[in-house]
Amino acid sequence: MVQLTLPKNSRITEGKTWPKPQAKNVTPFKVYRWNPDDGMNPRVDTFWVDRDDCGPMVLDGLIWIKSNVDSTLTFRRSCREGICGSCAMNIDGTNTLACTKGMDDCAGGKIVKIYPLPHMPVVKDLVPDLTQFYAQHASIEPWLKTDTREPGAEWRQSREDRAKLDGLYECILCACCTTSCPSYWWNGDRYLGPAALLQAYRWLVDSRDERTGQRLDELEDPFRLYRCHTIMNCAKTCPKGLNPAKAIAQIKQLMVARQF
Ligand code: SF4
Ligand code: SF4
Ligand code: FES
Repeated sequence: MVQLTLPKNSRITEGKTWPKPQAKNVTPFKVYRWNPDDGMNPRVDTFWVDRDDCGPMVLDGLIWIKSNVDSTLTFRRSCREGICGSCAMNIDGTNTLACTKGMDDCAGGKIVKIYPLPHMPVVKDLVPDLTQFYAQHASIEPWLKTDTREPGAEWRQSREDRAKLDGLYECILCACCTTSCPSYWWNGDRYLGPAALLQAYRWLVDSRDERTGQRLDELEDPFRLYRCHTIMNCAKTCPKGLNPAKAIAQIKQLMVARQF
C-alpha cells in the first residue's frame, strides 16, 4: 500500500467531533477540513455515518454526511461509477476514487480516514487545486496531429495498431498517480508527472499521428521526462489499473531508439 504525505497547507489539528446518530451500524469518518475563508488551521473532523442509511462506498458516506450532518463539507464528485475521475482523494492512506472504494475496505470497515490528494494546494476541504495538473496535460497537446490527411477524411487503423492504445486511452485524469509520485512532489513545477506522460505516450504510439519527432523533442528535457526514477507509486495507486511507469519507460526507449 502506498502511504502518502499530507496536502500542502497542512499543520493539522484535531477538529470537531460531530454527534453520533442513534443507529445500530455506524462507521467513524475522519475527514480533513480547511476553509480559506474562516481563518482556522486545517483540522480533522470526526463524523459518524449511519451505514444502514447509505450505500457501501466511501463517496456514499460523504454524501450522507453532507445531506445529514454538515452541508458545508466540500468535495468533488459526478459520475459515481469510476468514470469521471472527479472524486479522487486520499483514503485510508492511498490515493483512489471515493466512489469505487468500499467503506469495508478501509481498516476493515472500522474507520475511514480521508484527506485531499497529497502535495497539492487545497481549495477547500477535499478539493485540490488541479490547475497545474491540467495545464501539464494540455502541454503535451493530447490530440491527433496530421500533415498528410484532409480534415474529416477517414483514416483506418489496423487492429494491431489500435491494440497499442489499450492501457493508455482509459485514463480518466483523476490525478491519483501524479499526486502519489515523489518526483512530482519535489519537482512538480518542471516534471510533467505520470498522468501527462502516460497521455504523451498514448499519442506517440498512435499509428495515425505524424508528429512523433516533434513530440519527442518537446519531452527531451532533464526535468519534463527524466525525473521519473521508476519508484512505481503511480502504477500501484492507479484506480483504473494503468501503468504510467511502463509508459514512461517506453518513451525513454523511443528517445534512445531515435539516436540510431
Ligand atoms: S515510476 Fe516515475 S512517475 Fe511513477 S511514481 Fe515513480 S517516479 Fe513517479
Ligand atoms: S493513469 Fe490512472 S491514476 Fe493516473 S490520472 Fe490516469 S486514471 Fe488516474
Ligand atoms: S464520481 Fe466519477 S470517478 Fe468517482
